[in-house]
Amino acid sequence: MPSRAPERQVEESRVVMTEIVLPEDTNHRGSIFGGRVLALIDKCAAVAAIRHARGEVLTISMDTVEFRNPVVAGQILILNGWINAAFGSSMEAEVEVRSEDPASGARALTTRAYVTMVAVDDNGRPRRVPRLLAMDDEELRRAEEATKRRKIRLQNATSS
Ligand SMILES: CC(C)(COP(=O)(O)OP(=O)(O)OC[C@H]1O[C@@H](n2cnc3c(N)ncnc32)[C@H](O)[C@@H]1OP(=O)(O)O)[C@@H](O)C(=O)NCCC(=O)NCCS
Repeated sequence: MPSRAPERQVEESRVVMTEIVLPEDTNHRGSIFGGRVLALIDKCAAVAAIRHARGEVLTISMDTVEFRNPVVAGQILILNGWINAAFGSSMEAEVEVRSEDPASGARALTTRAYVTMVAVDDNGRPRRVPRLLAMDDEELRRAEEATKRRKIRLQNATSS
């Protein structure tokens, strides 16, 4: 792998996506399909990773995602994404999904996901990404926790 580009800050990767839940996004009970939320999470994580890597990225893994509260048609979904840690070619993106009640504006956390994205070159092979600079204790804590999660992911990874 060629040498790294300069460091980037977490702020440079931040993504905010807003969606309205339409009837075609929902099941017969009117709540959103889980797969629709996963697709939005994947897109949000990809944009965060592209902003950090400034190049093409591929999703290599997504940690377990739990859906605790149904989100129904007419509600607004807000996704916030950023990079927690950059390793060699891979980055852990965190995505928080909140629902917003259109009438009251009340927001509730729907789910949180950790997605690992790999930066790739023109041949689709992994390429090094810039280091991520932690600017405060919170960002440092997130990077440390991401490093622990990565260790577990790699232990559990299937070898092909
Ligand atoms: C992404 C891809 C190019 C990586 O190629 P590879 O030969 O597996 O590359 P490597 O084994 O060198 O791993 C690349 C990085 O992924 C990391 N990685 C590998 N398996 C992982 C896993 N299960 N979870 C998290 N990270 C993983 C490695 O640690 C490495 O990161 P690092 O450079 O930061 O250390 C290849 O796996 C691929 O094309 N996958 C399909 C991606 C895709 O199409 N996604 C869309 C959905 S199908």
